[in-house]
Parts: sequence; structure tokens; C-alpha cells
Amino acid sequence: MNIILNGRKVEIPPSWTEDTLLFVLREHFGLVGAKFGCGVGLCGACTVTVDGDTVRSCVTPVSALEGAEVRTIEGLADGDRLHPVQEAWLDQAVPQCGYCQAGQIMSAVALLEQTPAPSPEEIDTAMEGNLCRCGTYARIRAAIEIVAART
Ligand code: FES
Ligand code: FES
Repeated sequence: MNIILNGRKVEIPPSWTEDTLLFVLREHFGLVGAKFGCGVGLCGACTVTVDGDTVRSCVTPVSALEGAEVRTIEGLADGDRLHPVQEAWLDQAVPQCGYCQAGQIMSAVALLEQTPAPSPEEIDTAMEGNLCRCGTYARIRAAIEIVAART
């Protein structure tokens, strides 16, 4: 089977198809931005997008994704040019320990692609599944609002 991974068609060999998407990303493709946190779909550290929607890659079997477009944090920048959400994250100095941040950014990207000018409630709803042990929530909200204001 194949998936489109960060814009490139890649083959998933039969021996990998029993694995989760997170395992395939990290262990087979070396894309370690998405993190293993809870492992049961509850913390959001492993968030990536599939066909534009967020998924918890720790509980997503890669076998379910034939032909799907998977995007990870590694696929956001365009060469040296960061994605606007990444720029806003830097502007606001959002990360603390950083562990949750790839997942946070992927959720924010999906939100802003689907709802370019989200209300505070829409931001809260979209981001509530991404937990941050360091409590960076206020800066995450501010960064999302910056991107929304620029569009
Ligand atoms: S590691 Fe996937 S949701 Fe926590
Ligand atoms: S920045 Fe440390 S868990 Fe979120």
C-alpha cells in the first residue's frame, strides 16, 4: 500500500501494515516530530493530519490509510520558509518543554485551514484535545489569533 507523506508518495511494505501510524512515522520514516505521550488517543502529542483533519496517530492503524494524505510537522515548512503557524509560535515563544508542541501546531494548522478566522470558542474546541503539561495554553491561543488576524 501507499500513502502520501508530506506531499511525497511512499510505500508502506506489508511488514509495516500492522503498525500504528505513529510507529511508522517515527520508527520507519524517522519523522520524530509527532510524539508518543499517552498512547491511547487522549493527550494529542501524536497529532498529525490525514486528508486535512487531525488524527491521533498513536491509535490510527496505518493499514486504514491507503492513498491518504498524511502531513506531519516536518511537512509544514517550505524549504527555509516556516509555515505561518510556526512563525506565530516563534513570535509568541509558545513552547516550554516542547513535548506537546508538534501536536499543538498540527491541530492549529488544521483549524486555521478549515476556519481561517476562528472565534475564541472555536479555538478552544479545536485545541481542547491537545494537553500541555507545561501550561502554554494562553500563548497557544495568542499565536492562533495572530495567524487568524493576518488572514
Ligand atoms: S500519544 Fe496519541 S493521543 Fe496521546
Ligand atoms: S510545552 Fe511542555 S508539555 Fe506542552
